[in-house]
Amino acid sequence: MDIAVRPMALSETGLVIEYFHCAAPEHLEMLGVDPTRLPTRDAWRERFEQDFSLPVEQRPQFFVIWLLDDHAVGFSSCDKIVFGECANMHLHVADSERRTKGIGTACVLKSVEIYFRELRLKRLFCEPNAFNVAPNRTLQKARFKYLKTHMTVPGPLNFHQAVTRWVIER
Ligand SMILES: CC(C)(COP(=O)(O)OP(=O)(O)OC[C@H]1O[C@@H](n2cnc3c(N)ncnc32)[C@H](O)[C@@H]1OP(=O)(O)O)[C@@H](O)C(=O)NCCC(=O)NCCS
Repeated sequence: MDIAVRPMALSETGLVIEYFHCAAPEHLEMLGVDPTRLPTRDAWRERFEQDFSLPVEQRPQFFVIWLLDDHAVGFSSCDKIVFGECANMHLHVADSERRTKGIGTACVLKSVEIYFRELRLKRLFCEPNAFNVAPNRTLQKARFKYLKTHMTVPGPLNFHQAVTRWVIER
């Protein structure tokens, strides 16, 4: 099993758009995502084109792709980026049959290295839905530190929810 993680190319961003647009309502609920807040495929593609035209230090988001034996099986992203300081991470094994086999933990560990290097971070946060067991267990395994559980709207695609706040610092 050869696991690799690298910055996502613009040509690969369809994986992200299709992951969310093809997700079952109960999966989006578990993620804390409000389906009515998803941009249309076209709007999302345009947004990716704009983001990728910017230098990394000016991008509002940064994506990495997760590869198993050279096949894309998932992705991670950062938003709320303050270049040189901090960012918020997201994590997804897109292929549901590949979950709970250790890929998430291995890919989070590799993604963290890329984020700290590319975004020159001091702190990386992650705030999964408090009731979504998989990311909470995975973050703990990937050596993130638990900070608190609180109510918030974590991002533009999300509804108001309980989230757990985790951090890794360098
Ligand atoms: C979160 C996610 C990326 C983790 O990847 P993964 O490959 O499934 O995780 P791993 O196999 O590395 O498991 C890591 C730990 O989490 C636990 N775990 C994973 N999924 C679990 C589940 N559904 N229920 C309970 N524990 C779970 C594993 O048992 C393991 O802990 P352990 O070794 O102490 O037993 C993946 O499950 C996923 O994409 N889920 C759907 C998307 C999602 O919820 N993303 C979070 C949005 S912030």
